[in-house]
Amino acid sequence: MVLETSRLILRSFQKEDLGRLAELMANRDFMRFSLGPYTREQTQGVLQKFLSWNQAGLPSQFAVIFRGSNELIGYCGFLHWHLDGADEIEIGYRLHPDYWNRGLASEAAQAVRDHAFRDLRLPKVISLIHPDNVPSRRVAEKNGMTIERETVFRGFPTQVFAITREQWLAERGAG
Ligand SMILES: CC(C)(COP(=O)(O)OP(=O)(O)OC[C@H]1O[C@@H](n2cnc3c(N)ncnc32)[C@H](O)[C@@H]1OP(=O)(O)O)[C@@H](O)C(=O)NCCC(=O)NCCS
Repeated sequence: MVLETSRLILRSFQKEDLGRLAELMANRDFMRFSLGPYTREQTQGVLQKFLSWNQAGLPSQFAVIFRGSNELIGYCGFLHWHLDGADEIEIGYRLHPDYWNRGLASEAAQAVRDHAFRDLRLPKVISLIHPDNVPSRRVAEKNGMTIERETVFRGFPTQVFAITREQWLAERGAG
């Protein structure tokens, strides 16, 4: 599965991506507001999870390729969580800091959101965001999401941003 935007290509992860993904996940800024930085072994576990979702035909993360350099600069796509008693599908994103503040995460997240509702026909997607993570909140807002509630996720205070398929359809109808 490949999603294309004007500046990015989002493609499925492959096992050959381990080296580059390990480089990214060893970077403290790339791993802001998460459990990292990660070792190569920890990254291998993450990549294995993405690949197993792909193999099972489940929504998964995409490798984000910057067209300008053909470089893998991060990930954007789906994550599966059991949160507060419900199964949820999150749109999650991380980019190498050299690529921040150019609108690239928003561009990727919007393509993933449209794929979720147009192709996968998911009823709802969420993004889990630490209250201090202003850039991530902006990406969620630009993705049409609003705060649904606050919770605790992995021990951290977390805002649950969400958009439903109905909201997405209504927004497109209005636009
Ligand atoms: C979150 C992240 C993916 C955003 O990527 P990005 O490509 O820079 O995002 P965009 O350029 O599309 O949008 C960023 C927005 O945040 C704003 N922003 C950035 N830093 C900011 C700050 N310190 N204070 C206020 N706003 C800020 C930008 O101005 C922009 O908003 P605007 O379009 O309204 O001007 C990137 O910062 C990242 O990888 N962070 C580390 C990992 C992470 O936190 N991931 C999310 C976990 S929930």
